[in-house]
Amino acid sequence: MQIFKDRVILITGANRGIGRSLVKTLLEHDVKKIYATYRDLKQMPSFNDDRVVPLPLDITNSSDIAKTIIDTSDTEILINNAGVLSSGTILEGDLNGMNYDMQVNYFGTINMMRAYSPILVKNRPARIINIVSIAAYSPLPTIAGYAASKAALFSATQSVRIELAKKGITVHAVNPGAIGTDMNKGSDWVMPTPDSVAIRILQQIALENLDIIPDEIGQNMYNAWKEDPSKLAKIFSDIYHM
Ligand SMILES: NC(=O)c1ccc[n+]([C@@H]2O[C@H](COP(=O)([O-])OP(=O)(O)OC[C@H]3O[C@@H](n4cnc5c(N)ncnc54)[C@H](OP(=O)(O)O)[C@@H]3O)[C@@H](O)[C@H]2O)c1
Repeated sequence: MQIFKDRVILITGANRGIGRSLVKTLLEHDVKKIYATYRDLKQMPSFNDDRVVPLPLDITNSSDIAKTIIDTSDTEILINNAGVLSSGTILEGDLNGMNYDMQVNYFGTINMMRAYSPILVKNRPARIINIVSIAAYSPLPTIAGYAASKAALFSATQSVRIELAKKGITVHAVNPGAIGTDMNKGSDWVMPTPDSVAIRILQQIALENLDIIPDEIGQNMYNAWKEDPSKLAKIFSDIYHM
């Protein structure tokens, strides 16, 4: 994929799940450097590749971001992958969990976009790739706080896309359905591996698609929503009442 050749990429939450798979896949495409950021060094896998520069970064911590920026001012592609999920309904879910999802998924990603936009403008043409969720289209009641945080992030992604378009920065929204990562531990759904999804995400970016649904479960949900938003709401309502 030419689009990634010789590019400098920063990815959040690179130690596991989709983030780790994105690093592995990007390394196969002649990238120049990947800043692979993590919260806990002990959880950081070795990618056995000198192009990977591991850096500590919690996206909710502004001093972490300020420190990281100093060493990563050549970033050309920012992948906002880090995310958390708290279960629970609106009426009975833990409010602390809902607040945490919002702090990480929405405000944390906004922190990163605000901090890195000047750098990306300087290094343009550049890209921001936000990993959102299909739950941004229609809420799933069992993970209502998470869905709200991702709906907010989807909205912010669409806004910033317009804000940055004239400055040479392309903003992509990736809205997966269900992927076989720790986030879905315990689920009995048959889900694609993060490695297979990472390939599909990067292929869609290479095609310059702005809104990307990289998996079949997500695509089926999106198709239902496109036909009529109430159809996706019904799918999620049925899941809730199973
Ligand atoms: N799996 C799915 O079905 C699915 C579907 C739609 C969207 N997504 C989205 O895809 C992204 C990746 O999820 P995943 O499935 O790969 O989940 P995962 O395996 O649970 O990985 C989440 C990653 O985010 C990191 N992280 C969490 N909070 C962070 C913070 N404050 N600062 C920096 N890093 C932080 C985690 O770091 P630690 O290891 O330190 O916790 C971990 O590396 C998330 O945004 C998620 O919402 C996933």
